[in-house]
Amino acid sequence: MMKKLSKLFLEPAPFKNFALRNIARYKLGSFEQRVNLGAMPYAHYAYPLYQGAKLAKRLGHTRISTIEFGVAGGNGLVALEKIARDIEKELGMTIDVYGFDLSEGLPRSTDYRDALYFWKAGFFKMDVSALKGRLSKAKLVLGDVKDTIPTFAKEHDPAPIAAVMFDLDYYSSTRDAFKIFDIEDKHILPRVFIYFDDVMGTEECLVGDFTGQRAAINEFNDTNDHKKIDMLHFIFARRIPNEKYYRMRAFHHFKHPDYNAFIGPENQEQALR
Ligand SMILES: C[S@@+](CC[C@H](N)C(=O)[O-])C[C@H]1O[C@@H](n2cnc3c(N)ncnc32)[C@H](O)[C@@H]1O
Repeated sequence: MMKKLSKLFLEPAPFKNFALRNIARYKLGSFEQRVNLGAMPYAHYAYPLYQGAKLAKRLGHTRISTIEFGVAGGNGLVALEKIARDIEKELGMTIDVYGFDLSEGLPRSTDYRDALYFWKAGFFKMDVSALKGRLSKAKLVLGDVKDTIPTFAKEHDPAPIAAVMFDLDYYSSTRDAFKIFDIEDKHILPRVFIYFDDVMGTEECLVGDFTGQRAAINEFNDTNDHKKIDMLHFIFARRIPNEKYYRMRAFHHFKHPDYNAFIGPENQEQALR
């Protein structure tokens, strides 16, 4: 009761939250409006996939891929699969879903950048057969990402990657997973929408620029001249009351052959009034 009351009166946007819950529940408005507002289950997965799919469509693609790095029990992947189906219907395209995971839980580490005061080796084990029984289209890519990413393109010939969800917890695993951005240009869009689960943190986790996912992002940006992971600044201006929307980023591949393909609205004018 107290929790509900404090939520209602003390949260920055109590009425917005109430409205969003009901928009999601009664499916009010269009699919796109609900995605942009964050009014659906796992909206933080729906938003990057929907925006990535729209970009792909503008670039002339009819089939794309999305990846979840870090699957654990599989709740996120099951949700991503459902979202992919909804977006397929909405935009009339095909979406392949991949889930990368070690399956044995978090790997052993001694690297302080993995914030071992918060994460423990063995956390988040997967029940592989139970999860496979729940999946209909998503493919599991099992093993350490540093071993599975280099062979991914050859084994799966993926359609262009449009959206990626990073939830590997560790700095070291995220750094290794960024090798996905070395994939041949035909397997990736010039810009990819990204969700990072661990760029905000809590008092215990104390996510910062020197450990965890943020350290991996900073290192990626420092060591790549033509590829960068950048903020989505407009999200902050929209003040969406779903904190997970502030964890979104975009990957830019400046030398991708389609980087400069025009996708904005046509005939833009600002004639003198
Ligand atoms: C927090 S869980 C993912 C939860 C999931 N995204 C969800 O929303 O339900 C993190 C997962 O990352 C996986 N992981 C961490 N480092 C990895 C690595 N180097 N290679 C493959 N998987 C890894 C672990 O096995 C663990 O299952």
